[in-house]
Amino acid sequence: MTETANDQPSSVADALTREHREIDAGIEAFVASMGASAGGPAGTVSEWAAPLLVAMTALRRHIYLEEEFVFPPIRDGGLVMAIMVMLREHGELWRAMDELSDLLETGADDPGRHEELVQRCSAMLDLLEAHNSKEEPIIYTRADADLPAESRAELQEFLRRGRMPDGWVCERASR
Ligand SMILES: [Fe+2]
Ligand SMILES: [Fe+2]
Repeated sequence: MTETANDQPSSVADALTREHREIDAGIEAFVASMGASAGGPAGTVSEWAAPLLVAMTALRRHIYLEEEFVFPPIRDGGLVMAIMVMLREHGELWRAMDELSDLLETGADDPGRHEELVQRCSAMLDLLEAHNSKEEPIIYTRADADLPAESRAELQEFLRRGRMPDGWVCERASR
């Protein structure tokens, strides 16, 4: 269910949950493609790592919009501890992505590092599972009720075509 019958935008919770699924699917597709290419992946790094690069861009943007639009009103609504946990886990995910990006830049041509790349992706999928399985029932169920109508409209607009500002890092990117 993405849109209601009268073509109103779907709920914030639905839209954010959909992003979780898409990001997971991108990383899983990358892991599967690495498993399928016995003689090593074909083409340039930006070609064979495309599903992972796209998923990481989407995940960074997703973390940005949560920390900018979604979390503040929910924290103000009283879920202080839960938001603190979410921010800490965003920090872990952020560092995992930085490490993956470094590995893609420096070790992608070395077939010996491909196994490490796959292992790091699996570890990131585990982090995402642990994060999303709390965020969806605890935070997202509050998103539509706690966000003022104006912020909800702003967020829906951002979800359609917004870009994370250059150089933005999440609140807990460094420990
Ligand atoms: Fe999150
Ligand atoms: Fe999320």
